[in-house]
Amino acid sequence: MKSIVLIGFMGTGKSVVGRRLAQDLRFNFVDTDILIEKKTGKRISEIFSEEGGEKRFRLLEEEAVRTVVKQGRSVVSTGGGVVLSQANRDILREYGTVVWLKASPELILERVKKKPGTRPLLLKEDPLLSIKSLLKEREFFYQQAAFSVDTSQLGVEEVVLQVKKGVLAVEASTNPA
Ligand code: S3P
Repeated sequence: MKSIVLIGFMGTGKSVVGRRLAQDLRFNFVDTDILIEKKTGKRISEIFSEEGGEKRFRLLEEEAVRTVVKQGRSVVSTGGGVVLSQANRDILREYGTVVWLKASPELILERVKKKPGTRPLLLKEDPLLSIKSLLKEREFFYQQAAFSVDTSQLGVEEVVLQVKKGVLAVEASTNPA
């Protein structure tokens, strides 16, 4: 099996699922947000609130993506905005099977509310509206994944299973025996 890259909006389960999937497959696990926090010694929310804000974060994110793909076979969880960069999209597609984790805007809001202050892009008067408009902007890029799993009604173990099945199916169709 090749590396697996999880993309998708905030609160769709990329980090939790990625960690569990990596354990299951005995693959290395990497999370681009954690890599950025380790490298800078700062929380993502701090980076966003400093000078350069999101622009600087996006550069750090591109650097994290370039680092990740040098590490050999892994499960990679990415930040929700990783797909905004064409370079990231190309590098990640080349590196592994890209899987889009989805959830409804309402559920995303429920999930991100549980970790207040960790999603600077949603610190808005109407976060549900922000989620919907960001989703609209990004949907086209998320759709470029090899396949998607809707995590709205599923537990972590079920999502892990669906991802594994999907990846095996994609690999079988691209490398017929
Ligand atoms: C972002 C998602 C976050 C984090 C940053 C920006 C985004 O990661 O990278 O706050 O642009 O959607 P998660 O998707 O892991 O929450």
